[in-house]
Amino acid sequence: MSYGSFPLSRARRNRHDAFTRTLVRENQLLVDHLIWPIFVCEGTQQQQSVASMPGVVRVSLDLLVEHVRPAVELGIPAVALFPITPASLRDARGTEALNPDNLMCRASKLLKDRFPELGIIGDVALDPYTDHGHDGIIENGRVVNDLSIEVLAAQALNQARAGNDIVAPSDMMDGRVRKIRETLDEDGQQDTRIMSYSAKYASAYYGPFRDALGSGGLLTGDKKTYQMDPANSDEALLEVARDLEEGADMVMVKPGMPYLDIIRRVRDKFKVPTFAYQVSGEYAMMMAAFQNGWLDKDKTILESLLAFRRAGCNGVLTYFALDAARLLRS
Ligand code: PBG
Repeated sequence: MSYGSFPLSRARRNRHDAFTRTLVRENQLLVDHLIWPIFVCEGTQQQQSVASMPGVVRVSLDLLVEHVRPAVELGIPAVALFPITPASLRDARGTEALNPDNLMCRASKLLKDRFPELGIIGDVALDPYTDHGHDGIIENGRVVNDLSIEVLAAQALNQARAGNDIVAPSDMMDGRVRKIRETLDEDGQQDTRIMSYSAKYASAYYGPFRDALGSGGLLTGDKKTYQMDPANSDEALLEVARDLEEGADMVMVKPGMPYLDIIRRVRDKFKVPTFAYQVSGEYAMMMAAFQNGWLDKDKTILESLLAFRRAGCNGVLTYFALDAARLLRS
């Protein structure tokens, strides 16, 4: 609208100064919204760096409590655990996933014991445990669904018994949420929450994570018969609808930044607790730019995470959780 040659309505008035910008701000990023993914490894005194994820380490259990303490002190509500399984313990069926004393279970017991208030999220998928790097079990050259979900449900139960508050199936098999819910309930674990990786895409952005896990080199082929096609959007809504029907308490979209449109659609349609994973490749891209002095690290981290809130997320899994929490507290 304009009167004469001057606009009557001026958008810049509400940007005039800091207090006005604060008053009109629509979204906020808080420490409450951060979930920190952590890689744990065997051995002692290990803080192994991951070449493609500068600043991220694989930490052994003797150092885990001290590693996590700053996150607890900053008020980060939850961590997501990812175990690095030695090759000697990997097999075709991911048997180690069911071992009640496996690395993941020991890590969650340890953290639950030291930090009872900290939420522990366990990733449910077989790729850390299989010698072929796939998330399920292979028969006749294909990842088979119905047998895989039996094992995944047993894996989820194993994690719940070890103190995981939330199990997060990231495998993308059909019917796994229902199977997991039934299995947990039969065992009296009805309080264990399910955060389903509902719309998880077959993405190139997972590369650095597979380096971290040591599953990248093992992986034969790709995950396109179970993870979603990046071309699809309506299908994500169908996946979320199914998972909610099957008993998911929270849903996730993954990767994050390239899929903000999916997050927004999920939020608008279902209005359920929605999360996103700012994945390893997103972290790697940003870190590369920071290291080259091409982007301002602090500002870019906070802006990228605020974008998830604007898109409709309750929270974000991010390798920047600690950096972001420090920035938000300072
Ligand atoms: C495996 C899993 C993956 C990630 C989380 N869980 C990789 C994959 O599906 O191959 C990726 C996380 C990241 O890239 O940071 N089930």
